[in-house]
Amino acid sequence: MKIAVVGATGLVGTVMLKVLEERNFPLTELIPVASEKSVGKEITFKGKKYAVVSMDTAISMRPDIALFSAGGSTSLAEAPRFAEVGTTVIDNSSAWRMDPSKKLVVPEVNASELSADDKIIANPNCSTIQMVVALKPLHDKYKIKRVVVSTYQSVTGTGVKAVEQLMNERKGITDGPMAYAYPIDLNVIPQIDVFQDNGYTKEEMKMILETQKIMGDNNIKVTATTVRIPVMGGHSESVNIEFENDFDVTEVKNLLANTEGIILVDDPANLKYPMPKDAHEKDEVFVGRIRRDESLPNTLNMWIVADNLRKGAATNAVQIAEYLVKKQLV
Ligand SMILES: NC(=O)c1ccc[n+]([C@@H]2O[C@H](COP(=O)([O-])OP(=O)(O)OC[C@H]3O[C@@H](n4cnc5c(N)ncnc54)[C@H](OP(=O)(O)O)[C@@H]3O)[C@@H](O)[C@H]2O)c1
Repeated sequence: MKIAVVGATGLVGTVMLKVLEERNFPLTELIPVASEKSVGKEITFKGKKYAVVSMDTAISMRPDIALFSAGGSTSLAEAPRFAEVGTTVIDNSSAWRMDPSKKLVVPEVNASELSADDKIIANPNCSTIQMVVALKPLHDKYKIKRVVVSTYQSVTGTGVKAVEQLMNERKGITDGPMAYAYPIDLNVIPQIDVFQDNGYTKEEMKMILETQKIMGDNNIKVTATTVRIPVMGGHSESVNIEFENDFDVTEVKNLLANTEGIILVDDPANLKYPMPKDAHEKDEVFVGRIRRDESLPNTLNMWIVADNLRKGAATNAVQIAEYLVKKQLV
């Protein structure tokens, strides 16, 4: 089992290597790939040093699986070249997500859609992944009509440059590289990705369209406001869900607590609720603040937190790879 990690020197790629190591992924050969400027650079995996190779070298080695996190344009250009030599690509960028011929997968929700013919598989947007993990069991039970989500997203979602911007600002350095149009420390930026003609940002449209595709139900109405905040550990989401059918709040809590991949943290009396500090470096999705929306029938409020670099990116991709191996689809 030869595994290429494309973007191995980046934020997501680094976590990808950590997750592969922690979960003891059954690989026999690791192929770290990055841009030309990083070729030859050493990375460590399970105590062993590996030299970063170029895209062409990696393709010539015909990996079984390539985990991509090197940006959309790199993915559009390079993923098909890997697929051509028989590699199954699991891609973290937005390049292939809405392509009708590509599967968009969150293993807890729709891994069963995968087949050996899927040579490029898309990993959803980080904010979407953590939300659908919590929505799926509720949709199955009560049927979702509409979701209103507002996000509070970590700077780690933008990559290494954004983390540097925040850290520089916290140290009073004002002339460092800027990942955002504005200072992020002591600020909140209600824009993630570029604006579309309809006034939504691309991140907001990703949450709307990807949720419907993963859940396999275009009747689920979603509206989103995505916001960047000066936080590191993970993304948080305030989610309001209107159901077709009524629910019992205790039953909702039990349902979520018993869902694979979810940890329920909902004990207001003891000030227990999910926070990015606690989700940091964890693979699970944390859910709390569950309560009835008293302004509308059959409607629920909840708060969802996950480490965007883990379940929102690396862990989800590795779980897809684990599924492919388990089902002998690679
Ligand atoms: N951060 C998140 O929470 C998150 C979540 C989901 C998905 N994603 C997606 O994952 C991707 C990477 O994000 P990131 O945050 O890890 O960014 P990042 O820290 O900036 O890392 C980018 C990585 O891609 C490599 N790369 C860039 N251009 C390349 C090329 N032409 N050929 C080969 N490698 C190339 C870089 O190599 P060098 O070091 O050599 O430049 C680096 O390893 C993006 O598509 C992003 O949208 C990110």
